[in-house]
This record gives sequence, structure tokens and C-alpha cells, in this order.
Amino acid sequence: MSAEAVERLDDRSEYAGLLRFYELAKHQEWQVRDLPWGELAPVPEGKGSPERMARRRDVWRSVVMQQLQADIIACEMAAQLLNAAPDPEARLYYSTMVQDESRHTEAWLKLIGQVGGEGERDPHLDALGHMFLEADSLEEKVFLMQVFFERLIIPRFRLIARSSRGTILEDICNRLAIDDGIHHGSGMAYERILLTRAPSPVKAQLIDAANRMLPEFAKHALWRPKAREMIGTLMEARDRERLKLELDHGVRLAASLGLDVSDVSLPF
Ligand SMILES: [Fe+2]
Ligand SMILES: [Fe+2]
Repeated sequence: MSAEAVERLDDRSEYAGLLRFYELAKHQEWQVRDLPWGELAPVPEGKGSPERMARRRDVWRSVVMQQLQADIIACEMAAQLLNAAPDPEARLYYSTMVQDESRHTEAWLKLIGQVGGEGERDPHLDALGHMFLEADSLEEKVFLMQVFFERLIIPRFRLIARSSRGTILEDICNRLAIDDGIHHGSGMAYERILLTRAPSPVKAQLIDAANRMLPEFAKHALWRPKAREMIGTLMEARDRERLKLELDHGVRLAASLGLDVSDVSLPF
């Protein structure tokens, strides 16, 4: 083997970006015990009659339930990525992502225990979970979870945080927005590397996967459990507007990875 070929084999500079995300993840690491348990209200309390306050608590409980459900699925997904990724830098990074998703789940479990326990499941979130878990290639799993889902979920955390000032829920949402920003950024970095060596059928599969995922994500974003049905109708027009912007952004991300997005069809 020529010296040049040996050097090429040793050259891991392509993965330097991924290692930076590993270091960032370690730096940002937090603990569930650091949250202001007992100092702040778990969720906004509201005013009025006991019935009115109970109704409000149910609304917040359903918000927490949806996030808990998402993070339990994310645990399984992150574990799959850790198992499937062949590159040492990616495996090191995914070992932190498994811990993050597990810590998110722990925080939601504690929080939901303070607002009445688990509630109704979002069926569209389960459908999205199946799509991720059953995806055939590593490229598709990274694409669906980290490029799309982690990025699309961030504005939702900011939205929940804005409407729950001064509560533990706000604190968790702010932490998760940062963590998921790292999950998304690392996924973009890794997907770029994976796609430089992926054969073109894999790229076509990614577009098919986007076409299956985006309508289901839209249903998830617009889904309302019984507790939120009323508010659901009031907010639907605004939600659709916001969702459209988010989905457009998702398609731009796919284009920035060099994928031909002309065959992606948006649900609205
Ligand atoms: Fe998470
Ligand atoms: Fe995440």
C-alpha cells in the first residue's frame, strides 16, 4: 500500500464535525435533579373555579403526554442509530444521544406524575415511530429522525415554553430545544458524510420516505386529544400556517443535503 493510501485510510478529518457535536453534547449535559422541582409549579395553574382549573390542568397534561410519548420513541430510535452506525465518531456521538433521550423521558415521567399521570396517546406519533424504526437504511433513519423530526419539533418547544413561563415545563422545553438542536445538527453532519458514499437508489428512497413522513407529521402537529379539542379548533388556522412554514423548511434542509426534492409533495 502506498504511503498516500495509508494516509487516506487514517484521514478522519471528514468526521471532525461529528466529533465537535460529541463534545458539544458532553458540554451541554444536564441532570433531571438540576430542575427546580418543588420551587416552581409543574405547569401553569390558571385561575377560576376548581372545574376550570382542572380542565386547564388536563390540557397541560395532554401537552406533556405527547412529549413523553415522543421521547420514549426517541430512546428506541437513538439506540437503533447507535447500533447501526459503523463509524467510531458517530457511535461515540450516538452514545450521548441515547443518554439525552433517556434523560428527557425521565424528566417527562416525573413531570407527568405531578399533573395526574399518563393520558391519551397520539396515534400519529406512534405511526411516525414505526416509520423510523422500520426504515431500511441508516441513511433513512438519520434522515427521518435527525434531519426532519428533531428540527421540526424545536419550534414546538419554543411555543410551549412561551405559554408556560415560570414553570418546570418551560425549563424542560428550553433544555430540550437546545438538546434537539444538537441532535439535528449532528444528524445533518453525519447524513452529509453518508450521502457522499450512498448509491443513488438510497437517495431516491429518502425522497419516498419524506413523502410518507411529512403528511403524518402534519397530522401529528394538528392532532388534539379530547382535553384540547376546544382549543384545537380555535388555533387550527394559525397552526396550519405555522406548520406549512416548518414543512417548507424541512424540504429546504433535504435540498441542502444535495437531494433532488422536486418529487417531494407537501400535504398542503
Ligand atoms: Fe428528546
Ligand atoms: Fe432528540
